[in-house]
Amino acid sequence: MEKIIEVKNLKKSFGENEVLHDINLNINRGEVVSLIGPSGSGKSTILRCIIDLETITYGDIFIEGKNLKDKKIKKQILLKTGMVFQSFNLFPHMTVRNNIVRTLKLVKKTSLDEATKIAKEVLEVVGLSDKIDNFPSELSGGQRQRVAIARALALQPDILLFDEPTSALDPELVKEVLDIIRKLKNKKITMLIVSHEMNFVKEISDKVVVLEKGKILEKGTSKQIFENPKSSRVREFLNTIY
Ligand SMILES: Nc1ncnc2c1ncn2[C@@H]1O[C@H](COP(=O)(O)OP(=O)(O)OP(=O)(O)O)[C@@H](O)[C@H]1O
Ligand SMILES: [Mg+2]
Repeated sequence: MEKIIEVKNLKKSFGENEVLHDINLNINRGEVVSLIGPSGSGKSTILRCIIDLETITYGDIFIEGKNLKDKKIKKQILLKTGMVFQSFNLFPHMTVRNNIVRTLKLVKKTSLDEATKIAKEVLEVVGLSDKIDNFPSELSGGQRQRVAIARALALQPDILLFDEPTSALDPELVKEVLDIIRKLKNKKITMLIVSHEMNFVKEISDKVVVLEKGKILEKGTSKQIFENPKSSRVREFLNTIY
């Protein structure tokens, strides 16, 4: 199996405080991997390290075999990862169309014609073709998050990272975003997901990684983690939230 992401012996400190201790994690092409664990366990920090929003203190991160430390090819490496945040991060003063088109022009220097074509395609995937000329303020939270997913998809990343994509949404809007992620799994898109929606995590994940206090408590298939965890700490954690 081809490894898309390999995290090796990763440590991350903020000042004196080490928040990730020796994290090892692999994601293969086409796999959906979820990171779960209590608040403050380091889930977001791992994602932020993978997309280079944080400088790592020790260890290595490889994306498609290339070390993220390699400054010369860093930009090229990062083009292969797309991230969807809890809080959409759309440009409020631009229409849906321009959120996607401008991003493509900026990041990939895509021509206007080509970018417009891609924008239409990805909006079709997330079911928002009819909102192409609306502004983010004219959309529901769920629709905004679907635009954010479309914008990430437009860059054709080899892996999509999600950090609690539904936690800023009203309960009735959660489903529409989860449905899109299900659809992406059917398209064999590789994904690393942080989510508190445990039923969703159980259903969608090939692998589940449980973190606590910056350490991996256990990793395994979704079935193994949810139905037969080895660690009593994992069992306790799942009992409290699921
Ligand atoms: N910029 C920062 N400066 C200092 N400490 C930080 C910073 N970002 C995160 N931390 C600390 O790192 C630890 C891990 O935080 P992180 O945000 O990765 O947790 P999380 O698992 O995503 O939690 P949540 O479920 O609440 O989102 C926490 O103790 C947090 O206080
Ligand atoms: Mg977080």
